[in-house]
Amino acid sequence: MSPANGRPDTAWRNPLRDKRDKRMPRIAGPCAVVIFGVTGDLARKKLMPAIYDLANRGLLPPGFALVGFARRDWADEDFGKIVLDAVRQHARTPFHQEVWDRLAEGFRFVQGTFDDDASFERLSETLHKLDVERGTSGNHAFYLSIPPNAFPQVCEQLSKSGLADKPEGSWSRVVIEKPFGHDLKSAEELNSVVNSVFPESSVFRIDHYLGKETVQNLLALRFANEMFEPVLNSHYVDSVQITMAEDIGLGGRGGYYDGVGAARDVIQNHLLQLLALTAMEEPVSFSPAELQAEKIKVLSATRLAEPLNETTSRGQYAAGWQGGEKVVGLLDEEGFSKTSTTETFAAITLDVDTRRWAGVPFYLRTGKRLGRRVTEIALLFKRAPHLPFDATMTDELGQNALVIRVQPDEGITLRFGSKVPGHIMEVRDVSMDFSYGSAFAEESPEAYERLILDVLLGEPSLFPVNAEVELCWKILDPALEYWASHGKPDSYESGTWGPESSFEMLRRSGREWRRP
Ligand code: BG6
Repeated sequence: MSPANGRPDTAWRNPLRDKRDKRMPRIAGPCAVVIFGVTGDLARKKLMPAIYDLANRGLLPPGFALVGFARRDWADEDFGKIVLDAVRQHARTPFHQEVWDRLAEGFRFVQGTFDDDASFERLSETLHKLDVERGTSGNHAFYLSIPPNAFPQVCEQLSKSGLADKPEGSWSRVVIEKPFGHDLKSAEELNSVVNSVFPESSVFRIDHYLGKETVQNLLALRFANEMFEPVLNSHYVDSVQITMAEDIGLGGRGGYYDGVGAARDVIQNHLLQLLALTAMEEPVSFSPAELQAEKIKVLSATRLAEPLNETTSRGQYAAGWQGGEKVVGLLDEEGFSKTSTTETFAAITLDVDTRRWAGVPFYLRTGKRLGRRVTEIALLFKRAPHLPFDATMTDELGQNALVIRVQPDEGITLRFGSKVPGHIMEVRDVSMDFSYGSAFAEESPEAYERLILDVLLGEPSLFPVNAEVELCWKILDPALEYWASHGKPDSYESGTWGPESSFEMLRRSGREWRRP
């Protein structure tokens, strides 16, 4: 239709006519990020490269500042070299000298320890100077990339030094990395310490799985389409299997991992978040509060299936072969005690007691040194109630499946039966694939890019709130307690798919794990 001026009426498509086109990237306002634990692995491999990638994509403000806080006796330039090294090795996007030079102008380093008031006074002076020199205007994000037992002390110091207060018109946010406690009780304690300094709206808990494109796509798949949602319920779905398998071992990570184990490390957070997004009802809108309300609702309805000796399994990797190389077992890894009972594999069965999901088991499993690196959510459908074929014609027909391939080879697979070409009727499984790599020209940003930018924008949708974290512990705690009082984990050979007990767990109900 042409309006009176004769020009085609395409104005409705014009993004400038909208208040704000949600597809346009938002750029963070002036601010400074302080990283505690700047010498750690996470800072080097993920945080500093992500900050550079954001700068490279033009998503950081011109006056952006990055402040490193650590015990080392470094000058600003030494810190700059450390960041440069990290960026050269781990950044996703190409290196551009001019981007780097501009970013590096905002680097500062504060030498200090968490127990020393004077260190935090120096940090405060540095930030105030930056506020004036680079226009960061009192907007500060404090990234605690440090062991959780140091959270209370750092929060207290931030409060004492006045850094947690936000002067009129500015913001102060704290970013915390998991583990958020080691059970429900410790999580409650930790949350109350953090919340005594920072209101919940200023706390950003990182669960980097929520920053992954494929995980956000779950919401698009479910709620932007009509054809999947009607069958995602107990009438059609037989079981849901969520797998996060890694091929790497734990050499060198003993300090963090020994005594923590696979269930606390990833089931409590990443996998239960995947379950929540898979099982929750449609939120009224994608506003953070509505989205969190639905996640909280479904997590409140989720509990471990019993008896736990039949519905859970845990294992520890023994020596074996991985990628053509002989690898040692956990007890021979550097940093682990020879008597460690830490599990490197965990599998649990969950019931989601809602009208939609009652009776559909949700199986979650994760492990190190498994067959290969793969994370996927597989919805396995019931078999057709009647097959009008001779039995032998459908011998090779499996269950229909909708599989969200979180990583690698990001995409979605639909598996169903199809006739094998030929004179006879024979039905066999085939797959229909959507792959990010071939469907889109754009490369997916790293999870940390998305999440750090969201912190700077004050956009909380992808960060689990206090209540979610506590509910996830509440779900998992009975398994942790059960395992703690029932001897050692089973052993499994490196390079396999985990202990026999995990296969047995499904076999009891006539099911089996999908081979990713
Ligand atoms: C972390 C866990 O949260 O996620 C690690 O602590 C694990 O043990 C890592 O290796 C896996 O992340 P990704 O993004 O590589 O799947």
